[in-house]
Amino acid sequence: MVMLAPSILSADFANLLKDIKEVETAGADMLHIDVMDGHFVPNISIGLPVVKSIKKVTKLPLDVHLMILNPERYIDDFISAGANYITVHAEACFHLHRLIESIRALGAKPSVALNPATSLNDIEYIIDYIDMVLIMTVNPGFGGQNFIKEMVYKINRLKKMILKRNLDVKIQVDGGINLDNVEEVVKAGADIIVAGSAIFRADSIENTVFEFKEKISRIKGA
Ligand code: DX5
Ligand code: ZN
Repeated sequence: MVMLAPSILSADFANLLKDIKEVETAGADMLHIDVMDGHFVPNISIGLPVVKSIKKVTKLPLDVHLMILNPERYIDDFISAGANYITVHAEACFHLHRLIESIRALGAKPSVALNPATSLNDIEYIIDYIDMVLIMTVNPGFGGQNFIKEMVYKINRLKKMILKRNLDVKIQVDGGINLDNVEEVVKAGADIIVAGSAIFRADSIENTVFEFKEKISRIKGA
């Protein structure tokens, strides 16, 4: 079953609890939390105190996407704060294999993100050790950007790699996904759909989650 992970980056931070409860009741499968440091990406977002507070008010798994340099310095704290999945960027790590092993040892599910320009070759030797690969379909840093269509081919190639090697690794896709292109992304092989502005900037958050779930469920094999 394909899962939906609303990205709270586009939520109303002054009414975060209300927005989280709305996606939770409407059937979201996990919460995607974007952490940005102003160095790895040109934007600064939210961090540990927010993750800690969110953990107290939701039962949804927390999927923390770290767009930060030196992620190894912070994983212990994010896992203690309640992160269930920790995604680090391959581009931000010198010792990716070691970091993945520490994330698992600390009790979270390790995941690796690839920027649009980064090759799948970068995960060839570590894919056996992770639970999820995050394919960025925009350049990370901001919500509301346009989906880069060449990434459909990348998702499809990754899916083939996973099937060929018979691995239990989920493909998460993040950036520019909306009700018009979600079908193409799922058909290419996505297992977890991240959507920020399409959900939180819609007229009705709840109806948009329903529509995403409905569209996904109609796709054969999804
Ligand atoms: C971008 C973030 C995304 C972002 C997606 O760097 O990783 O999770 O919130 O937002 P939309 O769905 O609006 O592209
Ligand atoms: Zn993200």
